Amino acid sequence: MNHAWWKKAVFYEIYVPSFKDGNGDGVGDFSGITSKLDYLKELGIDGLWLTPFYPSPKVDNGYDISDYFGIDPSYGTMEEFESFLIEAHKRGIRVIADLVLNHTSSEHQWFKESRSSRDNPKRDWYIWKDQPNNWESFFSGPAWEFDEATDQYYYHAFAKEQVYLNWANPELRQVMFNVMRFWLEKGVDGFRLDVINFLKVQDSFPNNPYDHDKKEQIHLHDKDQEGITSVIREISEVIHQYPDKFIVGEVGSEEIDILKNYLGTGKLDVAFNFNIGSIGTFDVEQLYSELLATEEAYGLDQNATLFFSSHDMPRFISRFGGDNERAKLFAALMLTAKGVPFIYQGDVIGMQDWLPATLDAMRDVQGKLVYEKSMNDGLPREEAFKKAVEGCRDKSRTPMQWDSSLYAGFSESEPWITIPSNSVTVNVENQMNDPDSMLSFYHSLLKLRKHHRSLQSGEYEILQKQDDMIFFTRSAGQERVLVALNFSSEDKTIDVQTDRYALLLSNKRTSLINGNRLEVMPNETMILLKSEEKINSGEVHVS
Ligand code: GLC
Repeated sequence: MNHAWWKKAVFYEIYVPSFKDGNGDGVGDFSGITSKLDYLKELGIDGLWLTPFYPSPKVDNGYDISDYFGIDPSYGTMEEFESFLIEAHKRGIRVIADLVLNHTSSEHQWFKESRSSRDNPKRDWYIWKDQPNNWESFFSGPAWEFDEATDQYYYHAFAKEQVYLNWANPELRQVMFNVMRFWLEKGVDGFRLDVINFLKVQDSFPNNPYDHDKKEQIHLHDKDQEGITSVIREISEVIHQYPDKFIVGEVGSEEIDILKNYLGTGKLDVAFNFNIGSIGTFDVEQLYSELLATEEAYGLDQNATLFFSSHDMPRFISRFGGDNERAKLFAALMLTAKGVPFIYQGDVIGMQDWLPATLDAMRDVQGKLVYEKSMNDGLPREEAFKKAVEGCRDKSRTPMQWDSSLYAGFSESEPWITIPSNSVTVNVENQMNDPDSMLSFYHSLLKLRKHHRSLQSGEYEILQKQDDMIFFTRSAGQERVLVALNFSSEDKTIDVQTDRYALLLSNKRTSLINGNRLEVMPNETMILLKSEEKINSGEVHVS
């Protein structure tokens, strides 16, 4: 496992409905994605994470699966999926499928059977109770729904159309293992396992406590429960029976000690480091301390991930102040620091958050549920809408901006969600040939990473922060690189014999000035390579 391909890979998240529409119906699809594989190859990524593409009523955009063995017709046919997979593999691009093991759509045949009578053979595949406890949905509102037909409540951790599966049922487990085998045999290279730490809940269903200050429920008994890692071990065993497969888990937690518990041989290969990735505002101190904490907490068989955006969170460019130059520093951190990077579509061209102006324009179920709850709580309409916008995840889900045409080159017809007006200027076509663009910067970083082993797998020798500059060295074999990221608005210096280093990349200069101090400009990314013949003859000192 030491030489596992994924340890050196850079992943790219494709939010399937919003990447590229190939058949002109306003929704992204497989023929669209296939048509962009050359672009992705040229960009330099190694793996794709595809959000769920299985048949689904799309209450939660595919995270409500109604058939685990098919392709949603709006995304194409099984043949189109297979030909996409072949074409991706031809280009050396691996494909990770998002798999939702925790819940099915309420439209799934299994649930239809389960809800039909109390003694249906599939009754126990879901969680039914005479009386609900106080658990709240992770979206908003109660986590239990009353079902008149059989006079009981069923559990759903998210929307009521996402019905929680009962993993304590051995028959259900076997069926889900077959789902994994089905896709592995089709040739997918692994899975992203959705909210996997919620897979098991506390068997006795005790009420959750409240944080009375924040007026919020504490999710004590409905995630990270005892016994969860042994279920994950079973899942991992099924997947790793196929050679070279990879599992990234969405472990919904920002606590490094919790994340860490799910990682290592026989468990998940990696989990999303929300402790780093979901930092809410620009805060270099926090960023650095999370990087350091991760480095210190993880054992030898545990690997971090690096990402700052996804389809579930506001884009980092917007979160961190909307400044492209600053965003480049985060791009550089993701692609040069220790951890498997996951780039989110659109970030590579500096797309920013989009905010729905009306309830009609809002697509996300979470936003709508927040609105409903706020109205029920008696908030005025405008307040409720404001809260809904805060909670809604449409911000980062708008279509990829390929060019300046009416629908941004995403589709021939009106897309399922609004195209932001800045697509006229912020798009792939415009940035392709501009050496100073965000896209060109990502391109250079990805190319550099490919050519330098220390950027893919090197250990840290130094990982430090000086005011708002983070810098580190990584080495692998004889190679050593130094990366300086000046997040501050002032020049910073590091004591370095610059003549012992070669400049690999900077967004501010083309050559180094010889001397014993390295000057790093505001918003500058500097990547230096220790010249081979000078290895062992000079060290880095921090002033
Ligand atoms: C994950 C997905 C998110 C979805 C939720 C419920 O967090 O990333 O989009 O709403 O799980 O399946």
